[in-house]
Amino acid sequence: MSETNSVRLTGPGGIEAELPIHEGTLGPRVMDVRRLYAQTGMFTYDPGFTATASCRSSITYIDGDAGILLYRGYRIEELAEKSDFLETAYLILYGDLPNGAQRLKFIHDITYHTMLHEQVQFLFRGFRRDAHPMALMIAVVGALSAFYYEDLDVEDPHHRMVATYRMIAKMPTIAAWAYKYSIGQPFVYPRNDLGYAENFIHMMFATPCEEYRVDPVLAKALDRIFILHADHEQNASTSTVRLVGSTGASPYAAIAAGIASLWGPAHGGANEAVVLMLDEIGTVDRIPEFLARAKDRNDPFRLMGFGHRVYKNYDPRAAVLKQSADEVLATLGQKNNPKLQIAKELEKIALEDEYFRERKLFPNVDFYSGIILEAMGIPTKMFTAIFALARTVGWIAQWNEMMLDPEQKIGRPRQLYVGPKERPFVPLEQRP
Ligand code: CMC
Repeated sequence: MSETNSVRLTGPGGIEAELPIHEGTLGPRVMDVRRLYAQTGMFTYDPGFTATASCRSSITYIDGDAGILLYRGYRIEELAEKSDFLETAYLILYGDLPNGAQRLKFIHDITYHTMLHEQVQFLFRGFRRDAHPMALMIAVVGALSAFYYEDLDVEDPHHRMVATYRMIAKMPTIAAWAYKYSIGQPFVYPRNDLGYAENFIHMMFATPCEEYRVDPVLAKALDRIFILHADHEQNASTSTVRLVGSTGASPYAAIAAGIASLWGPAHGGANEAVVLMLDEIGTVDRIPEFLARAKDRNDPFRLMGFGHRVYKNYDPRAAVLKQSADEVLATLGQKNNPKLQIAKELEKIALEDEYFRERKLFPNVDFYSGIILEAMGIPTKMFTAIFALARTVGWIAQWNEMMLDPEQKIGRPRQLYVGPKERPFVPLEQRP
């Protein structure tokens, strides 16, 4: 980041400020407002942080107008085609693609952290069987902060790396066990001879009664979904992880908070909501009715899987997933999958509609992912848990980056106070 020049602000009542401008490697320049209050006595007002850069980061770059997403400079489409999830995780964590030896060591080290402490089982058993997997994930990941408390010093780089590997390794086990618990089947332990996505599918669908062979086509498709969800710069859940981590809290607690943030339907919960919406639409002829509802200001209904805070163009992840949906469903013999047909038709009609065009609302990552996951036999309630599993890489990489940032401070926004001014206490007998 370089300081190029500054911007001069003048306003009524003699307000004057000189604020530095910083330039990144890509994207809009930023105005550094840290000295604004000292110079003018004013704060900035930005609900939802729509215009605020909260940190400097060299992990992920999005050009929302052009529909471009880069992890450490590499296009998402290229990574989805040529890389795999663990290699991409290494890239996100360390900044460069691994060489052969680094790759093997990373895969080995992640693989040998996949088991959960045996006691963790009892946490699952405390829940109702119908609990949402995201509720279990928040609880179990948060509880890891108790399992790894005494031996975790967040200021120690080695400790941070151990926590990082543990999180990436254990998340598939936690997510799969949340599912197993919900259907009353025995927990299946991780297997070190399987790849990352393969292992997850095995823990989801195997039982102790018989051999279960993971279909390589499904493993590859899921691995690609993991790559597409691995990081997305300063979204709500990542900002949550950074905010919690900025207090010096345990990374396990910070990631649990990130999972909680991801759960909402405006964020990661949208992949589940899309499939429920497509179910509700049911047939192509009902699409206009739902589009009319999405456009109606008095109806809270929104087209799930459409629109994005940053993308004002086609989300490149959605483009990869649309193609992947065709391939995976054809392989599974579900070429005429009715949900895929409704989704494609819905997309076509919406993209021609004035309302969606004006507001630059395009399909996002959640629009096609649920259709693929459902076709793979993954239950709807697990969709957001899978998003969380993959995004853990981004969360933990962003947490590590923040811990190393010399400008990092406890996250503490200001406010525009609109409540009552100071007033004297009213004794009970004098209150109306
Ligand atoms: N359907 C109908 N109208 C929409 C939609 C939608 N999906 N999304 C935005 N709009 C309208 C909105 O009503 C507003 O219209 P107007 O200017 O007339 O008031 C305009 O578009 C701008 O919307 P906004 O709510 O100010 O935009 P935002 O940046 O605050 O919200 C969003 C972004 C993703 C929360 C929103 O587009 C949305 O709710 N989409 C549906 C949920 C979804 O798919 N979420 C997944 C996001 S991508 C993956 C992830 O983050 O996890």
